Order: sequence, then C-alpha cells, then structure tokens
Amino acid sequence: MIKLTDRLQKIADFIDKGETMADIGTDHGFLPIYLWQNNICPHVILSDINKGPLEKADNNINIYCPDNSFDVRLGSGLEKLELREVDDIVIAGMGGLLIINILSSDVNKSKSYKKFIFQPRNAPEKLKKWLLENGFYILDSCLVREGKYIWEIFLAVPENQLMYNNINNFKIVLNKDKITDPIDLEISSILYEKKDPLLVDFIKNKIKIEEKILNAISNSKNIKNKDKVNKIKERIVKLEFALKKAYEI
Ligand SMILES: C[S@@+](CC[C@H](N)C(=O)[O-])C[C@H]1O[C@@H](n2cnc3c(N)ncnc32)[C@H](O)[C@@H]1O
Repeated sequence: MIKLTDRLQKIADFIDKGETMADIGTDHGFLPIYLWQNNICPHVILSDINKGPLEKADNNINIYCPDNSFDVRLGSGLEKLELREVDDIVIAGMGGLLIINILSSDVNKSKSYKKFIFQPRNAPEKLKKWLLENGFYILDSCLVREGKYIWEIFLAVPENQLMYNNINNFKIVLNKDKITDPIDLEISSILYEKKDPLLVDFIKNKIKIEEKILNAISNSKNIKNKDKVNKIKERIVKLEFALKKAYEI
C-alpha cells in the first residue's frame, strides 16, 4: 500500500469517497494510485505533459497495482479530458500562473468539473484572484509543511457546480466580496476560521522573506529602490497585523 507524504495526504483528504478524479501533472502518480488502491475513487486519470513523468507513474503502477490497468494520458492541462469526464481535478506542484493558463485555455471546460484541489508552488494569490474573478468560489483551505516550505492547499468550485457540492459543510466561503486587501488573497480568512496550526509560521515566513529583501536594498541610493522599500515596509505592517490576529485565534 502506498503511504503518501503529508502534502499529498492532505490533498487526498479533499476528495470524497465515490468521486472520480484526474491528476493533472501527476509525475510519480502516487496520489491517484493511492486513491484507487484505497477504494476512494472508482476511476482515476493520470495526466502529464511530459513522457518521463508518465514513465515514472507507470513504474509505480507496476510496483503498487501490477494487476490493474490505469488510465494514463499524455497532454497539457485539461486538453486530454472530455467535458465533465471526472468529478475532481487536482493540480499540485505547478506554478500559479501555469495553472491559470491551463484553466483559462478553455474556461467552459474548466467549469464543467465539480471541484478543483490546487496546491500551487508559487503565486497562489494570483491564482485565487483569477479564480474569484472568473466565477469560482474558494470553499476550503489548509496549510501543510514540507521540508522548509509551508504550502497552501485549497478547494475551488465553479459557481455553476456549487449545487453539486455540499456547501453546508463549509463554514466560510471565499468570494470576491470578501477580498478587501490583496493580503486577503495570500492569507485566506478560511485559515483563521479553521485555526490552522501552521498559520503563525506561515505568516512569520512571509515576514522573514520581506525583511531579507528589505535588508538587501534599504541602503541603496537608487530612487526606484526607495519606492520598493516603502512598499515592503507597508507590506510588513500588514503582515504583522495578520500575525497578531493569527496569535489571537
Ligand atoms: C513538480 S511536479 C508535481 C507532481 C505532483 N503533482 C505533486 O504535486 O507531487 C509537476 C509536474 O507537472 C507536469 N506539468 C508541467 N506543465 C504541465 C502542463 N501544462 N500540463 C500537465 N502537466 C504539466 C510536469 O511534467 C511535472 O511532472
């Protein structure tokens, strides 16, 4: 039996028993193999743009489920999927902008799936902004530590699919009216609501990054850097406010 890393396990936890799923950018294929092996998903699709990762996935299929033939597809994003072909789409370990490209290449198709689980490697706030401006809601979110990183995993649902999701399970729904400052896209209100145990460290890491940049450029005489310094200082004030709020939950 496959034992998932904490990150992949948290992604798996967003998928309900009986749902079908496609793992876009599957690489090693651990997540769909696990979901099938544990009878969570009756059908899984493993898709990747590169042959090398799919060979890795095939290898893992041979190790863990040699008697089952899996649905493995070579292609970019959602292009090898039919409209409504599965319930859930997972896109993890890719950049936020690449994920936006994948979704926006055929928005109609993207909105034909019941729910998406995202774990962007960077620019999560850009992805969330795009989602909220393009008719998606964010229903759930959690943090997970992997080595020196803390990643956010979140659940997004197209508005036209809300009725197929049990919305009563979610205490707080993020839509674009809830975003009053860009920082709200970086540190979701859902994480406060759920008292995520990694929230304090997540915000502290963000402050550390800004302080590092500030130290590196604050002695510069370049006028452009002066503007940058002021922006970073403003950002640190907002992050410290967020940190204080996180300590109080
Ligand atoms: C860092 S791996 C992530 C693997 C796995 N999803 C995880 O989270 O552990 C990223 C994978 O995405 C694939 N990839 C990159 N661009 C893609 C695209 N446009 N469509 C599908 N897969 C893509 C890469 O080939 C690679 O296997």
